[in-house]
Amino acid sequence: MTNERNGARRLPRGGWRAAACLAVVLAAGTAQADGDPDAGKRVFARCQSCHQVGPSARNLVGPELNGLIGRTSGTVAGYAYSPALKDAAIVWDHDAIAAFVKNPQGLAKGTRMVSPGPLKPADFDNLVAYLATFAADGGAAQ
Ligand code: HEC
Repeated sequence: MTNERNGARRLPRGGWRAAACLAVVLAAGTAQADGDPDAGKRVFARCQSCHQVGPSARNLVGPELNGLIGRTSGTVAGYAYSPALKDAAIVWDHDAIAAFVKNPQGLAKGTRMVSPGPLKPADFDNLVAYLATFAADGGAAQ
């Protein structure tokens, strides 16, 4: 996953999506398909008042988000989750994270997380790419 990532603006692979994607790429300044971790770091600023990542990440208002991709909801030790999030047993992937951030109650009714406000689809791609760079121990993934 690290190949091609370093700021390169990949062009769409062609086909019918090319024109539409190119417009998005030019408008957003970033590739749409699988996210730019650097741009995702800026999106994560919206989460940082409550969540940390990295080697020294601690649970704050919300649980730390290291190793989030593939993690089951409600499983960080030492964090007092709502029963809603524990019982939901969601396995966090791109779509689950996007759905949860957009409408936390829609995915886990009773959760204490509130939506940090609207994000664009590309923001989620970038955010997930950024979160994917953190292994469960907070070090670099891979
Ligand atoms: C105002 C505080 C706040 C903000 C801002 C916030 N969250 Fe949360 N988040 C929480 C809380 C509180 C929980 C735990 C909810 C529960 O136990 O029901 C949570 C839980 C989560 C979980 C579930 C984690 C797990 O271990 O199951 C994910 C994923 C998550 N947040 C992602 C995000 C992302 C991504 C953002 C930014 C786009 C964000 N949150 C912004 C407070 C926040």
